[in-house]
Order: sequence, then C-alpha cells, then structure tokens
Amino acid sequence: MLGGLLFFNFIRYPEITMDIDATREKALRELETADTEDSLAAWHGVYLGRKGEITMILRSLGEKSLNEKKDLGPKAQSLKRDLEAAYVRKEKNLKGAADAHRRIDLTMPGTRPEVGHCHPLMKTISDIRRIFGNMGFATVEGPELETETYNFDKLNFPKNHPARDMQDTLWVSAPKGLLMRTHTSPVQARYMEKNLPPFQIIVPGRVFRNEATDSSHEANFYQFEGLMVGTDVSLGNFKWIIGEFSRQFFEKDVDLRFRPSFFPFTEPSVEIDMRIGNGPWLEMMGGGMVHPNVFEAVGYDPKGVQGFAFGGGLDRWAMAKYGIPDVRLFYGNDARFLRQF
Ligand code: PHE
Repeated sequence: MLGGLLFFNFIRYPEITMDIDATREKALRELETADTEDSLAAWHGVYLGRKGEITMILRSLGEKSLNEKKDLGPKAQSLKRDLEAAYVRKEKNLKGAADAHRRIDLTMPGTRPEVGHCHPLMKTISDIRRIFGNMGFATVEGPELETETYNFDKLNFPKNHPARDMQDTLWVSAPKGLLMRTHTSPVQARYMEKNLPPFQIIVPGRVFRNEATDSSHEANFYQFEGLMVGTDVSLGNFKWIIGEFSRQFFEKDVDLRFRPSFFPFTEPSVEIDMRIGNGPWLEMMGGGMVHPNVFEAVGYDPKGVQGFAFGGGLDRWAMAKYGIPDVRLFYGNDARFLRQF
C-alpha cells in the first residue's frame, strides 16, 4: 500500500514532450522506485499504457513533418522497446524477490528431513564385529559364489555324502561345480590356507539355501562364523567366549546349553542353545573343535594345532535381540519396519 501512495505523485496527465532522452531518463528513474506490483502497474500505465506518454509521443508523430518523423520516429520506437524491456526485467526481479522471501519464512515450522536408517542386520553385524573385536577377533570375508571344494570337500564332507543335499544347495548351472555358499564355513578353509595360527577371526556374511520360506526360514540369510586356532585353544575357551559375547550382545544375563551334535568339520560337535532371562531355550548356533581332517586339508599339522569353530544364524540373533517375529521382515524393504531401527 505504501508503494502505491508514494507512487501517487507521478500519476498525472502525461505532458507530451518530444525530449526523448529526458523522457527515457525520467521513466527509468521512476521505474527504479517502483518496488511493488501496484506501483509497477501504475508506472506501466503512465508510460506504456494506452494513454501513456510513449503511446502519445508515437501518436503525435503523425502530425510532424517528414523530416521530424525521420528523426524522431526511430528514437521513439527504440525508447518504447527499451522501456518495455526494462519493465519486463523489473517485473521478474519483483517476482523473484517475492519468491525468495516466501522461501525463507522463518516463522514456518521446520520439516524433519528424512534420514536413512541402519538395517537391523547391519546393526547386528557391527555389534558382532565390535564385541568380538574387543576380544581380539579380526573380521574377514569370503566369496558368496563358492566352489564345491571349499563349501564341502575341505570341510570333510565325504563325496556324495547326503549332507551335501541336506543343505539344499543352490548350484550354478554354468560354469559347473560352482554354488552359492550354503554356510560361512568355507571361509575357515580359505583363511587357514593363507594364515598360520595363532589367530581368531569372525566372518559375517550372506549364505543361500534352496528352501521354502516361512517365518523362520529364508532362501538367503546371514551367518557369522567364528574360528580360533592355536596350540592349546580348548572347548572351555569356546564356552567362555560364547558366554561373554552373548551377554554383551543382549546386554542381559544369558544361560547357555551345549548339546552334542554333528558336523563333518568339527569333532566333537555341539549345538548351542540360549535362554535370555526366563524366556524359552533358543537354538542359536552350531560349533565344535575343528576336525583334524580340516587342518590337514588346509596344510596344517593336526598334531600341532587345535581350535574351535562356530556358526550362528545372524538373523536369529537379530530376531531374538529386537523381538522380531518373522525373518522375512528383514528382506521385505518395508520402510515402516526399517524406520524403527
Ligand atoms: N556351518 C554350520 C551350519 O551352517 C555351522 C557350524 C559352523 C558348525 C562352524 C560348526 C562349526 O549349520
């Protein structure tokens, strides 16, 4: 409104002057001060409108002599073009300024930017790395596409042993002999072939099985393998490490139960059950003392070394920690689920 009032002093009857330079200077100076939409429209009326000064000048040319027309005509036309261009520029500036002003309205409530969330399985992997890392375990990885040799042979699976089928292996059609690893245990053999004891490692990773899916089975899921080898690493050490890890992972007191089991690559083999507080017993991992045949297959002298290995279903650990009822939730990419972590 203020702009409109200030502008009032140059809304007047246009006096027709043929001093084109003076008109140009005056018009541009006044345009400079037009800083609202209203005052800009008024300016347009005064100079470029149907009864505006420039229109009048052009119209009055008709009564001039030929010489005057030749002189003034082009000048008046170029004045009109210049003022029109200046008007358009000004209009743009005003609009831009108004938009900018709207964009930085500091009284508007803030909007929370959408930020990514750490997937619960990745969170679990980093917890596992941290806790085992503090106990001196290094994290290593291995290939998901494996050879039959590493997935089975070097782990003491007899040829044509039903265990190879028991694991519902996903074979790759070509090249022949390759498969999607059914467990993280092949990394045991890969690591031992390149390193000498003593060492302790943890191997988180994706594994694949040709299984029907339900609330506790997925065709691909995660495991974490552990392997500690030295000259006198015992089952007692194994028990202590697993107990310590479990309590730190769940941040609660945890009861462990070791049951006899069988794996071709450990002897003796155990299944480890766990109870958190007064909850039910849950089967959390398999493990045992590394079988002498495995040491032999990687080139160690089985008489000089011993150690333990274990493999846990990482999804299962995450489900127990966060109270997740269905393993498929990890792989569904439902933002409502993921946003909770
Ligand atoms: N690889 C075994 C499985 O997938 C688990 C395991 C790992 C058992 C290491 C013993 C030692 O079930």
